[in-house]
Amino acid sequence: MAKVKSSYFCQSCGYESPKWLGKCPSCQQWNTFVEEVVEKKSAGIPDWRNTTHSTVSRANQPHKIQEIAYTEEHRLITPDKELNRVLGGGIVGGSLVLIGGEPGIGKSTLMLQLALTLPNIKVLYVSGEESEQQIKLRAERILNNPFSDCYILTETSTQNIFKQIEILEPNIVVIDSIQTLHSAHMESTPGSVSQVRECTAELLRFAKESNTPVFLIGHITKDGMIAGPKILEHMVDTVLQFEGDRHHVYRILRAIKNRFGSAAELGIYEMQGSGLREVSNPSEILLSLREEALSGVTVSATMEGMRPMLIETQALVSNSPYGTPQRSSTGFDTKRMNMLLAVLEKRCGFKLGAKDVFLNIAGGIKIEDPSIDLGLIAAIISSHEDIPISHKICFAAEVGLSGEIRAVTRIEQRIAEAEKLGFEQIFISKYNKKGLDLSKYKIGIQTVAKVEEVFELLF
Ligand code: TYD
Ligand code: MG
Repeated sequence: MAKVKSSYFCQSCGYESPKWLGKCPSCQQWNTFVEEVVEKKSAGIPDWRNTTHSTVSRANQPHKIQEIAYTEEHRLITPDKELNRVLGGGIVGGSLVLIGGEPGIGKSTLMLQLALTLPNIKVLYVSGEESEQQIKLRAERILNNPFSDCYILTETSTQNIFKQIEILEPNIVVIDSIQTLHSAHMESTPGSVSQVRECTAELLRFAKESNTPVFLIGHITKDGMIAGPKILEHMVDTVLQFEGDRHHVYRILRAIKNRFGSAAELGIYEMQGSGLREVSNPSEILLSLREEALSGVTVSATMEGMRPMLIETQALVSNSPYGTPQRSSTGFDTKRMNMLLAVLEKRCGFKLGAKDVFLNIAGGIKIEDPSIDLGLIAAIISSHEDIPISHKICFAAEVGLSGEIRAVTRIEQRIAEAEKLGFEQIFISKYNKKGLDLSKYKIGIQTVAKVEEVFELLF
């Protein structure tokens, strides 16, 4: 019997070492090394069209950049406008796309929905997680389309998958999920670093050589990283993250990396009883339709990717019954909230040290855009003083450590969105005024430079 060859792999970054190490020299993580069998079986295993591990040996020559003929990539436009947007305008032939997300967020639903709604396109949906019956049940929930050309294969061996692909010749392949696949070239267990890497490499070769787009669904670890080596993200062309709060209906599909488009794009969906519905106008759903102004509620004009979105923030400030006041926020970084509270204490003299402060961003989505700062502190003070702010006012500015109101990007788009949704006034930074044609807008534009000024104007 041949000696079994094994190696140790860092489960975090994929670093390979012949012996066990406590700390990974590559990513500096502790206790991440796991022994995996790496011996390759030799002959008799069918690979993708029997090509060996080396790529096609075509002697490439250098070309002068001016001489390279430029051809527009052919993109397949899907019926899902949000997905098209996130992919940079449709699916590129031969691209390898990784979709990551927490369990139960809707990755399988998104991909199955894509497979079912593509007209006249043969899609092979390979599932290593669910049975054919389960998938059929889900498909019936989504839509009953007898015309769709979608094939389901429950299989986990890459060699068998490639065999079926050769027979079926699909136009698109979906793999649910990459962590369940195993290749006969590797002896380690499915989901291990070396298996994930090998299976992805095989699929990558298949995608490039046959010019077939391949979608990989990937699991996510507790800290939000796609499980498996980081190199998985380097190998694929596009990494999409599907996120949202499982208890809310809204889901965001975010491009983290995209070789064929902008990585700042995002798509918004609503999870319904019959699958995912595209949300083309996010502002309307994120604003609760209220008739009267309430204290502690403000609206901010934020940008998510390239899209302006008006988002409602709620704050509640109350006397703390305990010695240490509670600070909690949903959808917003707690550290940044504490910084804003410190600015209010120190620069504006509000005594918030003994108060509980709770913040909530409507719709269960996370906001990283700092332009929400001004809206947040206005909501905090509105709740603290119990004075409502008119629901016809919105905010778009960042707040600095000395209480200065700072400029934000794409101010025209934010103003236009606020105007479109019927707001009567928007507070922006004085430094955003430069180059802005104020006469163009019907909405009142209030420019401010200091936090104190905002409060004088509001309360
Ligand atoms: P799923 O696609 O299985 O998630 P993932 O593959 O990311 O683990 O989605 C599962 C959740 O979506 C489940 O909680 C039920 C819900 N769902 C709906 O609300 N409506 C639907 O039409 C479908 C198919 C699923
Ligand atoms: Mg799934």
